[in-house]
Amino acid sequence: MKRILVTGALGQIGSELVPALRQTYGADAVIASDLRPATEGTEAGRFITLDCTDGAALGRIVREGRVDIIYHLAALLSATAEKAPQKAYAVNLGSLVNVLEVARESGCAVFTPSSIGAFGPTTPGDPAPQDTIQRPTTMYGVTKVAGELLCDYYFRRFGVDARGVRYPGLISYVSPPGGGTTDYAVDIFYGALEHNAYTCFLAADTQLDMMYMPDAIRAAMELMEADPASLKHRNAFNIAAMQLTPARLADIIARHLPGFTIDYDVDPARQAIAESWPRRLDDSAARQEWGWRPEYDAETMTVDMLEHLSARLGRPLPAAHR
Ligand code: NAD
Ligand code: SER
Repeated sequence: MKRILVTGALGQIGSELVPALRQTYGADAVIASDLRPATEGTEAGRFITLDCTDGAALGRIVREGRVDIIYHLAALLSATAEKAPQKAYAVNLGSLVNVLEVARESGCAVFTPSSIGAFGPTTPGDPAPQDTIQRPTTMYGVTKVAGELLCDYYFRRFGVDARGVRYPGLISYVSPPGGGTTDYAVDIFYGALEHNAYTCFLAADTQLDMMYMPDAIRAAMELMEADPASLKHRNAFNIAAMQLTPARLADIIARHLPGFTIDYDVDPARQAIAESWPRRLDDSAARQEWGWRPEYDAETMTVDMLEHLSARLGRPLPAAHR
């Protein structure tokens, strides 16, 4: 049996990755952990309160739980990190160093997400190649590039099986996003269902890569199951599914919710971050090396989001939805 520890398990990704891992590997195989205390739903399985910047506590949990794989999700996202860069450095890089050290000592494999935020304004942006210039202008990006390099280093120097993807902005309905620049692509669905209107903090034509959460979860699990012999990059794989602008997403939603309107109140800080990121990622390395394929495009994601979120919010969809 593979024994798994998930850090940052109460966040947007963890709240869906933990159930998926439990379904695949067994409920007892997965320890969920987060800085925050468990919610009612999470307590259905094993949960531990853990601050990953505390390396000794992390090491104890890994040794006592005889953990084989760490899915390391604890981090501050781009907009939050830009408000508290020193803390972001400490959490994003401090916790990753702790995870890699524990993995080295205990022989664990590690999954760590990087991000479109690992690129910057000098990266060729349409598409951003797998191997290219990475000079991000945000603290989030600095920690992501350094994290990618650390994972490569721990593999080459110590043989730690550290793998990861560069996620685009993630769209989901289970947990709200944790303070990113791409959060509008989730918030817009709440606005649509609750008010049939949404005021967007990014400009109408700001194009970024996005992905629906079921694809993001599958990517993490498939990469960790991939044959190591087929992985040339191993870590920091570009993955992509759909390219959206606020205007394009609003058009798709309006086809399902007649009368839906979007207007714009641009937040200069988040707009600047978005403009420093690529418009599209080239994910051919992931496709070739471990068979990555997204299942959801913008249309199928929108239909699924509206169905699930309307049920969660108790707001039935109009008949025109289909
Ligand atoms: P999130 O903000 O929703 O969740 C992060 C979790 O980490 C939170 O539950 C928080 O309580 C926890 N945490 C914060 N500091 C901690 C600490 N010191 N110790 C333990 N836990 C701590 O983030 P997410 O969206 O689930 O992202 C997870 C990872 O994926 C991050 O590395 C993020 O950069 C990356 N990523 C996310 C997206 C996205 O759109 N969600 C896109 C690209 C990359
Ligand atoms: N969704 C993330 C953010 O906006 C991208 O890494 O921070």
